[in-house]
Amino acid sequence: MSNTIRIKSPATIANLVCGFDILGLAVEEPFDLMTIEPSERPGLEIIHLDDYQLSTVPEENVAGGALLAMLEDVKDAPGIKLTIDKKIKPGSGLGSSAASAAGAVFAASKIIQQQFTQEDLIRYAMFGEKVASGVKHADNITPCLMGGITLIRSIMPLDIIPLNSPDLHITIVHPQIEVKTSDARHILKKEVQLKQAIRQWGNIAGLVAGFMKGDYALIGRSLEDGIIEPVRSILIPGFDQVKSRSKEAGALGGGISGSGPSVFMLSKDDATARAVEHVMKDVYIKIGIDFKTYVTKLNRQGIKIIE
Ligand code: HSE
Repeated sequence: MSNTIRIKSPATIANLVCGFDILGLAVEEPFDLMTIEPSERPGLEIIHLDDYQLSTVPEENVAGGALLAMLEDVKDAPGIKLTIDKKIKPGSGLGSSAASAAGAVFAASKIIQQQFTQEDLIRYAMFGEKVASGVKHADNITPCLMGGITLIRSIMPLDIIPLNSPDLHITIVHPQIEVKTSDARHILKKEVQLKQAIRQWGNIAGLVAGFMKGDYALIGRSLEDGIIEPVRSILIPGFDQVKSRSKEAGALGGGISGSGPSVFMLSKDDATARAVEHVMKDVYIKIGIDFKTYVTKLNRQGIKIIE
């Protein structure tokens, strides 16, 4: 066993509008801070430095669930102490649970003398998502671990495709209301009409091609979702205004971040991303809902070890 590892585990934007459960990207900000260290005490000890009142019982904790899955595959599992300082608010739609789960297994892989593949880490981290929402999905975990934009072609068996992308500037507004992922999944219709599916396939393919070719106009017109957004956006006050006014301000497009309530917009440059932040603020000031904004960038590395 080696020494203490300290990491920054980034927020992620899942779905990227049309790619429900299959597309996601990592951002530079916000991020969680986590420290993992070997412990004389057997088992897993979890300490939260934040005020989110999350359970520190390993089986009930997102990072704990992921680590317990990992430790089952480790011979003579060592004692581990994990300290988490969450900056990504749970229930924000910014991959808070994925940051905990992926961060925990990434950090643990650095102190346990055993080789793990990227796919192993994704698989373990998905157990954390199951603790959080009851469902194993990898569209936040994968970009968190790998950075950049990722496509999950399948989770059983795991088939992950990292996508090339031009530089992207990202504006996020987080209205201070909580939307539970489990609730936001529960309200979705279970069936999709063929004509809706065809439109969605066109947009997903267009978005992937737009990223790979660095074609900003194609990215913008593919950021369209006729299946999930019409249902979920009802939970987010101001959503339609944020979307239309951000596009008027020059954003390529955007929509709900993960299961919401955060809303994100992609822009070509920092000046546009800041103009978008300005209109997002204006919308929520006028509605009278507290909010937080981030102007950030595509994070190409994912989780980072810090000194
Ligand atoms: N793809 C998941 C969902 C992400 O939209 O429910 C949850 O953050």
